[in-house]
Amino acid sequence: MSCFLLAVGIAVGVGFVFHHVVVKGRRCTSETMLHGKTAIVTGSNTGIGKTTAIDLAKRGARVILACRSVQRGEIALAEVMRESGSNNVVFMQLDLGSLRSVRSFAETFLKIEPRLDLLINNAGIYLQGKTEDNLGMMFGVNHIGHFLLTNLLLERLKECGPSRVVSVASVGHNVGSIDFGCLNAHKALGTGTSFFPVVKIYCDSKLCNVLFTYELAKRLQGTDVTCYCLHPGAINSELARNANTVFAAVLKLIRGFFFKNTVQGAQTTLHCALQEGLEPYSGRYFSNCSVRDVYSKAKDGDTAKKLWELSERLSGLV
Ligand SMILES: NC(=O)c1ccc[n+]([C@@H]2O[C@H](COP(=O)([O-])OP(=O)(O)OC[C@H]3O[C@@H](n4cnc5c(N)ncnc54)[C@H](OP(=O)(O)O)[C@@H]3O)[C@@H](O)[C@H]2O)c1
Ligand SMILES: *[C@@H]1O[C@H](CO)[C@@H](O)[C@H](O)[C@H]1NC(C)=O
Repeated sequence: MSCFLLAVGIAVGVGFVFHHVVVKGRRCTSETMLHGKTAIVTGSNTGIGKTTAIDLAKRGARVILACRSVQRGEIALAEVMRESGSNNVVFMQLDLGSLRSVRSFAETFLKIEPRLDLLINNAGIYLQGKTEDNLGMMFGVNHIGHFLLTNLLLERLKECGPSRVVSVASVGHNVGSIDFGCLNAHKALGTGTSFFPVVKIYCDSKLCNVLFTYELAKRLQGTDVTCYCLHPGAINSELARNANTVFAAVLKLIRGFFFKNTVQGAQTTLHCALQEGLEPYSGRYFSNCSVRDVYSKAKDGDTAKKLWELSERLSGLV
């Protein structure tokens, strides 16, 4: 009996430590304030984008919530204002699955907003299908939309330096790959529709985020703009809302215990956006608020350049 109680005690203890140390992860400890600075956060109506926006607004930044749904965006606007106690928050419509919408967002932003100090490429989708421009959905939204947005805003970021571009990737990029044959033929990272191929395409799109950051840092050398990408942790968010029902049910069971909440999930994004002295790490990948090494495929100069040039064509930039 006492052995049993001891075992239960140890299990609870280990579980507690696991939850508070491993799941929770490190917090962003930067005390940087952002009065007079402007930040854009894409996909900030829910999930870690919303908690990121609230934190930046609390620090005094003017925060632009760049979200695709006007209705969800406006509800989030009220919530971000209430939670941060700031009135310096605005909603601007942006659908990353539409090149026309990305262009119109950038045009409006550049016309009415004088500054840009932080661009947080946070939005992401887990859904197979096609965008308005006939690009693969996850390739189009997770990569191409942010690629075009960043490029259209780059001059303003340069004028306002030191400024930063932070892209939310994922640890999943480790199992990703870039199939240029498929991209050239279908403007998609893959064409499968069953469970594993769709997960793979999501991971491929996150590898695009890492390679984009790697190449962008090279192109930004000599400017006052730096860029970072990151894994936020496994987060209890809405990301799996489009997943098949078995997968979604399994996630629902485990995520309360094993996954971070959305405040914990925003910490590495905030670290990349705010921590002083990160400039020497431009182009690198972060996790748990620290810089991490990546496999060679995620820092391969030729692949990164090839993806950049293809992205310029597919986004209509050249
Ligand atoms: N959750 C995790 O465990 C995890 C792990 C690793 C990486 N990530 C990454 O973290 C980022 C944030 O995800 P999350 O977990 O916070 O997920 P989430 O709760 O699903 O939030 C995703 C956000 O992206 C927006 N979005 C989707 N498609 C869009 C489009 N076409 N145009 C503009 N915005 C769009 C969503 O808007 P709607 O509400 O209108 O759909 C939503 O605001 C993503 O890049 C994701 O890949 C998440
Ligand atoms: C995050 O870092 C902290 C402190 O270095 C460590 O104790 C914790 O285990 C790490 N968590 C994860 C998920 O890597």
